[in-house]
Amino acid sequence: MERITTPEQAQQFIDAQVAAIREYVGNGKVLLALSGGVDSSVCAALLLKAVGNQLVCVHVNHGLLRKGEPEQVIEVFQKQLGANLVYVDAIDRFLNKLAGVSDPEQKRKIIGSEFIRVFEEEARKLDGIEFLGQGTIYPDILESKDGIKAHHNVGGLPEDLKFKLVEPVKLLYKDEVRVIGRQLGLPSGMVDRQPFPGPGLGVRCLGAITRDRLEALREADAILREEFANAGLAGKIWQYFAVIPDFHSTGIKDGKRIFSWLVVLRAVNSVDATSATVPVLDWDLLFRIRDRILAEVDGVCRVVYDLSPKPIATIEYE
Ligand code: XMP
Repeated sequence: MERITTPEQAQQFIDAQVAAIREYVGNGKVLLALSGGVDSSVCAALLLKAVGNQLVCVHVNHGLLRKGEPEQVIEVFQKQLGANLVYVDAIDRFLNKLAGVSDPEQKRKIIGSEFIRVFEEEARKLDGIEFLGQGTIYPDILESKDGIKAHHNVGGLPEDLKFKLVEPVKLLYKDEVRVIGRQLGLPSGMVDRQPFPGPGLGVRCLGAITRDRLEALREADAILREEFANAGLAGKIWQYFAVIPDFHSTGIKDGKRIFSWLVVLRAVNSVDATSATVPVLDWDLLFRIRDRILAEVDGVCRVVYDLSPKPIATIEYE
């Protein structure tokens, strides 16, 4: 199949999919877990175009999203596109379940299974849902065939909630999904987003997550992203984010000794995440980020830039 690269090809794909979805779904209702990531957002926009308010999007805020993400989902899908959007504030639920849990795999499992539980509860509140929309893309299918990862976000739903799947972008690669998203009028901040792990900031707030350290991480990460964007690096560097380990380091404030957190700045270039290099960044940019984090984020007294390539280090810390 020819790769989709141009707006014309994207429009052809959109027209064909809209017709196919309408034919398949008829008057049925479609449920979709909308994280705000590229794949689910493009899938939602396509379904919305095809079946309008027969689509119900559920956005679960697990408290581990980046600053501004839930607001963007509401702004774009509910306010601008008029989608039927159920916003679920599940922050306390997730953070209570995660309290005191330091093992990374355990954290991932809790986040994944709690997500399914929240989604299941929302699905049960809605009547007459027959279809489940999913932003599965082609690499997800390849990887799940290889046993690398289970691709279905909500694949663990109980037997009595088995829906018919609608997966309109399942034969596309990520770059093609982006072209479709642009053609559908989704904002660049959504379509050109860097990869973001499903467990979100949960695997960047290292060890047992605490609310205060999670908030510090969210703020530091927002500063880093804003400064990268101001420097014209958004979309040029593959992935960049902040991490806060679960230990204190010594600092001095107002002439007194303090014990505060350390923020790690991580930036990598990669093609497919199997290996990654560390970009040379402008010192002025690094200093600007450092100054802002130290001035604006409570509880931080130290900022470092991680120089480690993959391999030997992985991109994420957990
Ligand atoms: P690593 O840390 O293995 O990451 O070098 C490679 C890529 O995968 C992303 N990543 C995840 N994505 N769930 C996800 O959906 C996860 O648990 C997860 N862990 C890592 C990471 O951000 C990088 O792009």
